[in-house]
Amino acid sequence: MERLQKVIATTGFCSRRKAEEYIAKGLVEVNGKIVTKLGTKVNYTDNIVVNGMALDTKEDKVYYLLNKPRGIITSVSDDKKRKTVVDLIKENKRIYPVGRLDYDTTGALILTNDGELTNLLLHPKNHIEKLYIAKINGIPTREQLSRISRGMVIDGKKTGKAKVKVKKVNKRDNSSVVTIAIYEGRNHQIKKLFEAIGYKVLKLRRYGISFLTVDDLKSGEYRKLSVKEVKKLYAQAKLDGND
Ligand code: URA
Repeated sequence: MERLQKVIATTGFCSRRKAEEYIAKGLVEVNGKIVTKLGTKVNYTDNIVVNGMALDTKEDKVYYLLNKPRGIITSVSDDKKRKTVVDLIKENKRIYPVGRLDYDTTGALILTNDGELTNLLLHPKNHIEKLYIAKINGIPTREQLSRISRGMVIDGKKTGKAKVKVKKVNKRDNSSVVTIAIYEGRNHQIKKLFEAIGYKVLKLRRYGISFLTVDDLKSGEYRKLSVKEVKKLYAQAKLDGND
């Protein structure tokens, strides 16, 4: 048996914290009875209704790693009918991307129907490393890069620490290639960090998420994650004290 809020979060309906709010407000029913006690133990076979919505807790979980091409949106559907990352994967279950990569960003993206893992991977507290390689329109100084590594105020909020390194400098066209590791996933974070020190990101690729890389996948290709990899992702996310 598992705690009710965990089972709700596993379906992807909402985060565990939000599930706790629903429970406390008396909006959760288990087998037809309202449950308001946090931590009540339930089975995945119980009928759970949250805010009037019946949850599917029994669906098998699936996990994919995609090498996202440029020109595809990271979303489940698009009102302009553009192709989405979900369209690239042959899977009948309702899967969704974990976080987002911009339309013009390429590289590693996890897609799943496991809401619990999604919440764990996205929570900045869990310190999951996202590794990027970027081409920028200039050659940053050591001081500029150390401002990024210490964290900068973006949209009114300080970013966490980052690891940033210049890999290649091209004096002819005044550009450089840098690698950067961040541990949170704010919107356009890498582009905004470089903009904040005066540079534009010309190309961006996420080459890794924690221990997963897309080196063995061509652009647009994907593979299922192994049970071992999924367990390892859970373990990494829980290192910082989540249960
Ligand atoms: N940071 C960005 O600016 N864009 C992405 O797609 C991912 C991280």
